[in-house]
Amino acid sequence: MGLVSVKEILAMAEEGGYAVGAFNLNNMEIMQAIIEAAEEERAPVILQASQGALKYAGIEYIAALAKTAATQASVPIALHLDHGTSFEQVVECLRNDFTSVMFDGSKYEFAENIRRTKEVVDIAHIVGVSVEGELGRIGGVEDDIVVDERDALLTDPSEAAEFAEATGVDALAIAIGTAHGLYKLEPKLDFERLTEIKEVVSIPLVLHGGSGVPDGAIQEAIRRGIRKINIDSELRKAFSDGVRAALAKNSEEIDPRKLLTPARDAMREKAREKMRLFGANGKV
Ligand code: G3H
Ligand code: 13P
Ligand code: ZN
Repeated sequence: MGLVSVKEILAMAEEGGYAVGAFNLNNMEIMQAIIEAAEEERAPVILQASQGALKYAGIEYIAALAKTAATQASVPIALHLDHGTSFEQVVECLRNDFTSVMFDGSKYEFAENIRRTKEVVDIAHIVGVSVEGELGRIGGVEDDIVVDERDALLTDPSEAAEFAEATGVDALAIAIGTAHGLYKLEPKLDFERLTEIKEVVSIPLVLHGGSGVPDGAIQEAIRRGIRKINIDSELRKAFSDGVRAALAKNSEEIDPRKLLTPARDAMREKAREKMRLFGANGKV
């Protein structure tokens, strides 16, 4: 099977009322862990590359890893650009066979976000690549947002409807109270806002900052219409816990494979746990 688009995968999720895990990859072991999890759980899956991943591994390596995985896999796999920063970067992804891109114009004011996102949609759709846009601010846990200011940063439902309509995006990342990274305090999601957005936006909705969100909140978000959930930090933690455990067993170990095998196993189990939580297991 070749790589499929996120649009295709999310259409299945919409139909089935579940969410697809979108996991960030940076190297071969992370990718293998995600794919093994998807195969074992019979779940569709999205591999996504962040700005940091592209810098660390290089776009060609990321694309080659994902394409190799898709050729061998028996479950649908998409390759997605996470938080794309420019039109030029999107074109580079199109040239490297990505099947989906995110353009994150959330730092721009509303009209400029629409203008730049639409530019990306117009070119990506020509080659059948789907596009995710972002409206509202999904910060980092380190951003220290004071509660009074929080509401202003969350996605406005009527703007979301206008944004989806004006840009033609295939999926929309919304800000409802999650943040990137591992939370120091339990995140409080604005579920009413999510429902209001779902009522006026017909395309699949995306939740960023999925790591560390309590299981019950994830399930409620899916019930209310979230169809793609991004997970990075919890895989990073599983990876580094695995390496630390291997070193604790033998601090003199010099064989990278002996350090990375437990790391890969720990990531695979974490990814499986998320796929089951999202209800994506057994869907292929
Ligand atoms: O979207 C944010 C990712 O979780 C982290 O990105 O790989 O660029 O540090 P990074
Ligand atoms: P976490 O690192 O909080 O899981 O967020 C991942 C993400 O949203 C990537 O875009
Ligand atoms: Zn994100």
